[in-house]
Amino acid sequence: MTSFLQPIVDKIVAHIADETERGAVASYIPGLAAVSPDRFGMAVITADGAQYIGGDAAVPFSTQSVSKVFALTLALGKVGDQLWHRVGREPSGNAFNSIVQLEAEHGIPRNPFINAGAIVISDINLAGYQPREAIAELLRLVRYLAGDDSIVVDEEIARGEAETGFRNIALANYMRAFGNIHHPVELALGVYFHQCAIAMSCVQLARAGRYLMLDGAHPEAGRVISARRARRINALMLTCGHYDASGDFAFRIGIPGKSGVGGGILAVVPGKASIAVWSPGLNASGNSRLGTKALEMLALETGWSIFSARD
Ligand code: DON
Repeated sequence: MTSFLQPIVDKIVAHIADETERGAVASYIPGLAAVSPDRFGMAVITADGAQYIGGDAAVPFSTQSVSKVFALTLALGKVGDQLWHRVGREPSGNAFNSIVQLEAEHGIPRNPFINAGAIVISDINLAGYQPREAIAELLRLVRYLAGDDSIVVDEEIARGEAETGFRNIALANYMRAFGNIHHPVELALGVYFHQCAIAMSCVQLARAGRYLMLDGAHPEAGRVISARRARRINALMLTCGHYDASGDFAFRIGIPGKSGVGGGILAVVPGKASIAVWSPGLNASGNSRLGTKALEMLALETGWSIFSARD
């Protein structure tokens, strides 16, 4: 039924290979700066389990903020809707690492995908654990979702995060002053930095995202979360997943998506597909320039925009 997809993926890979404006690779973490902007990978997994891949789909990259989707899933499992007392669910209209709203909004971050929100989520996932155990639990979840035990944390990237994370340290301290970080900041940040350093290939990431296309069900191993929770996470990905460019992403692509500064994007078409793309060069908003372009082409060719299937 979906065999029309492989030629589309092949066409996108060929088109992206010809692009000369590839965006700027994130430079603030040495391990990210070293990645070639010529890389491009794509993996599409449909609801029937078929997989369509192209380019560097099997090459692991730093998932960075894409990991925030899985950390949120874990935290919701722990504290349920109580989570929304500590983190909002509105787009921020600001950069991913912005601090400006926190003072006026009493240390409650706008949403779980900006850095401040993700640090609160790390603090929630830390409760009752040592940082090492909390990150191991998140890694276990990601491996289970992807059905792949080879997924690991890139320790060099995690070290780079800690050495350059002055803004994140400031965000965590500022929220701690409002009582919205419950553990010592260095512990919550340890979890956050390692979470960002989880490495996955497009194939692994698209596999890990399958539960969000399947109303919260794992394709092989039972239920991950309720259908309502999956719907809500998808809604947050659509409204907040690309930070201050979330509106433009909805306008151009119309599919819930979560980006990371490693150049990866996870996109979910409910009931239809889990998609991962990776191109390390970023646009001015810190989202993958050609990853976005690839998803735009895919949405156009497939009619997968959630707003309308017709062009
Ligand atoms: O500076 C950080 O917090 C990053 N390591 C993660 C941020 C990220 O991927 C933001 N997304 N575009």
